[in-house]
Amino acid sequence: MFEETLLKLVKKISKQAELRQPPDPSFGDFSMPCFPLAKERKQNPVQIAEELAKEVKAPDFVAKVEAKGGYLNFFLKEGALAESVITKILKEKEKHGTSQEGKGKTVVMDYSHPNVAKPFGIGHLRSTVIGQCLVNLFQNQGYKVVRLNYLGDWGTPFGKYIEGYRRWGDAKKLAKEPIKHLYEIYVRYNKEAEDDEELQQQARDWFKKLEEGDKEALQLYHKFRDLSLKEFKRIYTILGVEFDSFDGEFSILPKVEATLALLKKKGLSKIDQNALVVPMEPVPLMLKKSDEATTYGARDLASIEYRVKHYKADHMLYVVGNEQTLYFTQVFSVAKKLGYKGTEHIKFGMYLAEGGKKMATRKGTLVLLDKVLEETIQLALNLIKEKNPKLANKEKVAQQVGVGAVIFGDLVNDRVRDIMFDWEKIVQFEGDTGPYLMYSNARANSILTNVKVGKPDFTQLKHAAEVKLVTVLGNYTMMVQNALRERKPHTLAQYLLEVSHRFNEFYHACPVLKADDKEKAARLSLVKATTTVLENGLALLGIAAPKTM
Ligand code: ARG
Repeated sequence: MFEETLLKLVKKISKQAELRQPPDPSFGDFSMPCFPLAKERKQNPVQIAEELAKEVKAPDFVAKVEAKGGYLNFFLKEGALAESVITKILKEKEKHGTSQEGKGKTVVMDYSHPNVAKPFGIGHLRSTVIGQCLVNLFQNQGYKVVRLNYLGDWGTPFGKYIEGYRRWGDAKKLAKEPIKHLYEIYVRYNKEAEDDEELQQQARDWFKKLEEGDKEALQLYHKFRDLSLKEFKRIYTILGVEFDSFDGEFSILPKVEATLALLKKKGLSKIDQNALVVPMEPVPLMLKKSDEATTYGARDLASIEYRVKHYKADHMLYVVGNEQTLYFTQVFSVAKKLGYKGTEHIKFGMYLAEGGKKMATRKGTLVLLDKVLEETIQLALNLIKEKNPKLANKEKVAQQVGVGAVIFGDLVNDRVRDIMFDWEKIVQFEGDTGPYLMYSNARANSILTNVKVGKPDFTQLKHAAEVKLVTVLGNYTMMVQNALRERKPHTLAQYLLEVSHRFNEFYHACPVLKADDKEKAARLSLVKATTTVLENGLALLGIAAPKTM
């Protein structure tokens, strides 16, 4: 194939040389940046490009070679780019875009991580969706990925849940809607304890008992944990997400003391006002409170050690909101002093309700994820009934569309920014939405039903809309690699929107099934390549691609 042949050619010039597909066809169909060579040869890249343009013996599918601003640009003969791009995609199918780049490397992805007995909030949805997309990208590039759901299943609030449940708990309610019931108890506890010192003390006492392994405390604790996890798993099933482990803060407890001892040995920790801390700016990192209970930070440090030793992690990613930035900077810098590298905070912004207000609050006005998903699936079902009343398995498709809408509505935004959210808007079939992408793909698939894609003559693909679509399809592999390198799913999401836009332009400008035989064969191959790219891309985002909708 042409791309490979050209790659071999530039690799002969220099091992460091790379081949790119320029974003704009006026820079050629393929292009080699001369900057890496400039370093090697201690020469100006512009000059290198000019010399190479004269010297290089281009293969016969190349129409011309041109030097421009430090790049060596290759222009292919008519139809040659289309042949190169489309044959590669059609041959590689669902493998198109993958590589073995990460072979032998292990990534531990810490994502989703909701808190036991607390509602699965929008922040946890963001973490789940972003984390899952990164998991897919890493796996796609040959990395081994451990999908870790580090549950928030330890901490002083459990003292409140236990005492609160003993006071006001209702076994029936707990069995029916465990999180709702426990959360109500928690809110009530906080409120009543505001001016009730005894209540505060009882929560502390119960937490202490729990730490010491008291039977009743442990039994209630495990009940709350199991029931919460069951609810979380229901959400994961809807979202189509799976984990390798749900070991959270509780499971790391037996390992914390050893890490604390190591910190002490290295002289990194000290006692400050009865608490054990790592002195740092602007605030010390707390390891143990004055009552001896270990902290979130101590548990994270122990778990980093565990991830390196047990999983042999080369990369450790934490998909957690912006608000924990200082915390992770501190934890990672302490970990580094212990010799543990490869940690990264994959941060993200909040969803804002209208007027720029924070959407979730501690006292009641919480947006529940179940409700959101239920609603979007219902909206999708209404739309499908209106647009395509004859569609078989409407419920299943509505679920895929509703969930896809939520996932895409999240991933299309640069993760570090806050997002203004409009649930109705993301479910529409028009505009820059997930359903629009899914719909474009279904439309492409409908063209392909019951036709055979014959052997195409690629010089037929001359129309501007065809050329543009071919060019954008050819960028897929590069876009996947960029999205992973930058840890930015939105670049891939945006790219897929562009593919859909280009496809829809092509679809309106160039008839496929009504075209004459030669044109038809070429166009069908282009449509097929488009569905392959859209389906592979959607799968990376974690979105289903129904063939009809
Ligand atoms: N459960 C925590 C929360 O909801 C997030 C846990 C993040 N992971 C970690 N290793 N600290 O805020």
